[in-house]
Amino acid sequence: MTVLPIRTIPDPILMRKAKRVRIVDDSIKKLISDMLETLHAVPGRVGLAAPQIGISQRVIIISLPSEENDEEKGGDIVIINPEIVKRFGKRPVDEGCLSVPGYRGEIKRAESVTAKGRDQNGKEIRIKTGGLLAQALEHEIDHLNGTLYLDHLEGTNNLRRIELEEAPL
Ligand code: NI
Repeated sequence: MTVLPIRTIPDPILMRKAKRVRIVDDSIKKLISDMLETLHAVPGRVGLAAPQIGISQRVIIISLPSEENDEEKGGDIVIINPEIVKRFGKRPVDEGCLSVPGYRGEIKRAESVTAKGRDQNGKEIRIKTGGLLAQALEHEIDHLNGTLYLDHLEGTNNLRRIELEEAPL
């Protein structure tokens, strides 16, 4: 496992649509362990998508802060070829991104989502959730489509500079 540098804007890999994973081979397993180690090295972090460490493949990981953890959501969530299959409602959220350091912004996200994909053993996963996990799922899957939260801002008034990173996605 290796902690890798996190790509930041305007790195073109962040604007690119990532490739679907066909087989979970050793290179994908290594990618997942590097992503986990890289994410765990950042204090207060929530999630990471493979393009953020320079690999344009459809893999995301989410690791919620401990106060958000419960039986269902606890630990690290790894999803290969994730997709949002259903969205419900809209709510304003405050969001930051490891690839957009020094800023946070207010955007709208779904109140709840249903996401599906596969875990590292090829088993199908389906998650129906709200709160920070729903926000993180939308945010990380956006990364796989070359979309940043900045693309959802309704105006630059909703973007602000920050000194310390809090819960970046
Ligand atoms: Ni992000």
